[in-house]
Order: sequence, then C-alpha cells, then structure tokens
Amino acid sequence: MSVHKKQEVKRITTHQLQEMKNRGEKIAMLTAYDFSMAKIVDAAGIDVILVGDSASNVMAGNETTLPITLDQMIYHATSVVRAVKRALVVVDIPFGYYQGSSGEALRSSIRIMKESGAHAVKMEGGSEVKDSVLRILSAGVPVMGHLGLTPQSIYKFGTYTVRAREKEEADKLLEDAKLLEQCGCFGLVLEKIPASLAGKVAKELKIPVIGIGAGPEVDGQVLVMQDMLGITQEFKPRFLRRYADLNGVITGAINKYVEDVKAKSFPNEEEKY
Ligand code: KIV
Repeated sequence: MSVHKKQEVKRITTHQLQEMKNRGEKIAMLTAYDFSMAKIVDAAGIDVILVGDSASNVMAGNETTLPITLDQMIYHATSVVRAVKRALVVVDIPFGYYQGSSGEALRSSIRIMKESGAHAVKMEGGSEVKDSVLRILSAGVPVMGHLGLTPQSIYKFGTYTVRAREKEEADKLLEDAKLLEQCGCFGLVLEKIPASLAGKVAKELKIPVIGIGAGPEVDGQVLVMQDMLGITQEFKPRFLRRYADLNGVITGAINKYVEDVKAKSFPNEEEKY
C-alpha cells in the first residue's frame, strides 16, 4: 500500500521573521495583488507578501494611493491569500479607514482579517496612529508600521523625494520607530530615507526593519513587484533594481500573437478540434 503524504509547507509567521532578524538572515518582501502573480511569488520563495495600497497605482492606474477603498483592498487581499501557501501576507489599511478613530482602525483591520484571511495589517505613521495601533493589537491582529516616505501623506509632503534628511525629521522618525516597537508592532517598513538613518533604526530596534530605498543596513527589502519585474516603465527611482524586462517580453509575445492572427497562422491544424 502506498501512502501519499501531502507535502507540508511551513508557513512564515511574525515570530519566524523575528528569528530571521535575530540570526542575521535578511527578509525578502514583495508586493502582490492578484491570485496568479501571488502564486508565482509565493512558490519562488518570498518571505512576506505585501498587498500594498500601491495597488491603487499599479493595478487601478491612479496617480496616488489615496483613492483605493477598503473593499478594493479586501478584494486584492482575498485573491492573494487564496494563492499563498508559505509567505506571510500583510495588507495595507488604505487611506481614510484608520485616521478617523482607533475604533474605525480596529473595524477596518477586522474586516481585512475576517474577509481576506490575511495574516497582518500595515499602516502609515508614528505617534499620530499610536492609539489605533494599540487598539488593533489588543484584538490580536499583528501590525506592521510604515515610516519615512508615507505615500498616503503625499499632499502634505508635496513630493516623493527622500524624507528625514534633516535632523528634526530624522529624530522624530527614530522616536516614532521606537514607539511603534513599544506598542507591539512586529515589524516596520522604512521608505526612501537616508541609508545611515535606516541602519541606525534597524540597529536600535529589536523588531525587523524592512527597507525600500533605505539602503542595505536594514533587516530586509521590499519592492513593488511590477517595478522590479520591469512591467512599469516610467518609474525609475535610484533604489529600484529591475530584475526582468517583462514589459518587453509581454509586448514581444503580443506582437507575435497579433502577427499570427493576421497571417492566419494561428490556430493551426493541431490547435483546432
Ligand atoms: O503600498 C506599498 O506597496 C507599500 C510599499 C512601497 C512598502 O507600502
């Protein structure tokens, strides 16, 4: 008798991320917003999948992250969770669904966790969101912080340039990072800040610090999938390394398809019933 044992995939947990930091293993995080891509990303060995509100830009074509709704984030997150066997899935709470009150933040987090099956939420800000972070954590929902360039505040900043170059902003960022750790966040994203500051934060915090445009001295890196795969073309910040030219590959494939259809060479004898 042959016994077919289902191969067990060990899920990444927030505790494992902490252990990775403790032993000096870097954490690889990437965004995903749909089932098909999340399946590839997960199988390829990513540790954390972020269902980022960057979906507003790369999936919906909005100029900023502000328009995306909680329902839309839950739709993306649900699709991703269905595909994922190993990675920890973190979902952004979108703009306008946690700033009003800690009760609203809790309700938004509960909807994300209950309806999508995700494993954690992420929110932007420091001391301003302290009460919301504490309230969400008190319900047993893991929270990841996000400091530095926080795109939901783009109209306050006015530009997507590097943040915290000046001492005052750098000091506030370090203070906020410590506060988020004290509150109980399991991790922190630092976006587009000087590498030396990001390194200092990662050193002073016990929890994992994941950078995007924050240099190498942090505990892990995160990129937007469409950017690193070369699907998006116009976005070219210094920190972005392109690992593929999928725009070129996809365009080539579609050009060939159009050519074959026009030339009546698709479908051929073997491709028909
Ligand atoms: O929404 C997002 O993709 C993010 C990353 C840039 C960290 O927050």
